[in-house]
Amino acid sequence: MAYEHLIDLNDLSVSKWNEIISLALKIKKNESVYSEACKNKILATLFYEPSTRTQMSFQTAMLRLGGQIIGFDNPQNSSVSKGENLTDTIRIVSGYADILAMRHPLEGAAKAAALYAECPVINAGDGGHLHPTQTLTDLVTLQSEKGSLSGLTVGLCGDLKYGRTVHSLIKALSMYPDNRFILISTKELSIPQYIKDWMNSHNCPYRECYSLAEAIPELDVLYMTRIQKERFASEEEYRQQKNVYILDMQKLFSAKQDLCILHPLPRVDEIDLNVDKDPRAMYFKQAVNGVYARMALIITLLNAREQTSLLSHHNPAVCCSNPKCITNHETYLEKSYKENGDLLVCEYCDERQLL
Ligand code: NCD
Repeated sequence: MAYEHLIDLNDLSVSKWNEIISLALKIKKNESVYSEACKNKILATLFYEPSTRTQMSFQTAMLRLGGQIIGFDNPQNSSVSKGENLTDTIRIVSGYADILAMRHPLEGAAKAAALYAECPVINAGDGGHLHPTQTLTDLVTLQSEKGSLSGLTVGLCGDLKYGRTVHSLIKALSMYPDNRFILISTKELSIPQYIKDWMNSHNCPYRECYSLAEAIPELDVLYMTRIQKERFASEEEYRQQKNVYILDMQKLFSAKQDLCILHPLPRVDEIDLNVDKDPRAMYFKQAVNGVYARMALIITLLNAREQTSLLSHHNPAVCCSNPKCITNHETYLEKSYKENGDLLVCEYCDERQLL
């Protein structure tokens, strides 16, 4: 049987996102109406990487919908430590649960899981690739705080290379009219080429810049991010990048009065604690919205009739050139690529290589 999954938000239609966002806001207004919406249903949370908000907000969401939860947050306590492969774990757990949320350090892992699961799979973050449920959380927050998801100048600042929340958010916001992006980062941590190509092909204007102070007056939304220490090849490379961007009250002085400051959290040093008191700081509200976004998503996927198409083309002779792609670790997975001009695009991790 095929299920509707959430691997990449852009696998679903924008009208579907809008339905999920309005359902989240409806639930937020009148939560008690939904207190039995998932009665007798079980959510499994499989977290192969650390998490506070994503994991607990998924669990909270299911409990508030009247459902129940199982799972692990440290794969070393599961049979993974005995050498079980990803898809065997998924086959088994999807026989116990009605829906799975999985976070994994390898890119494309959620898609690999969905290929073998006997229930819907939600990508709760796959390496430095995507994080669609954080994006739903961000969209719910922007809709409720700015009243619209279009006509926004959005600054994204920090680790734009490894920040999966950034990749998912840009892909989503470029589907709404009249948004533009200012991409604030060092050269080393600039946005991947495939995201630039995405913005270009969706006619979404963007500019790359180094200085947060220079960009801030123009912004309607400022999305701060943590430097993703765990994804650097060496500690030294990380040290060169940390503390380059710190949002403080002085920088906010020249910002718009209705600027909306978001951060997927956790914060390290990139937002000064004094900013928390500023009414423009929305990141704690954003984390609360994550529960409503995930409640709406769980209801939607458990009631879905359509199915997500997972792989379209196959080319088993070629290996993905991304060393962090799941297909280079779980080598039994069927390789699959889309052709884009003279490029082959891996359907698990979006890595591109020449044909
Ligand atoms: C983010 C993540 O895991 O990608 N956190 C989250 O899910 N809210 C951001 C981060 O870890 O920096």
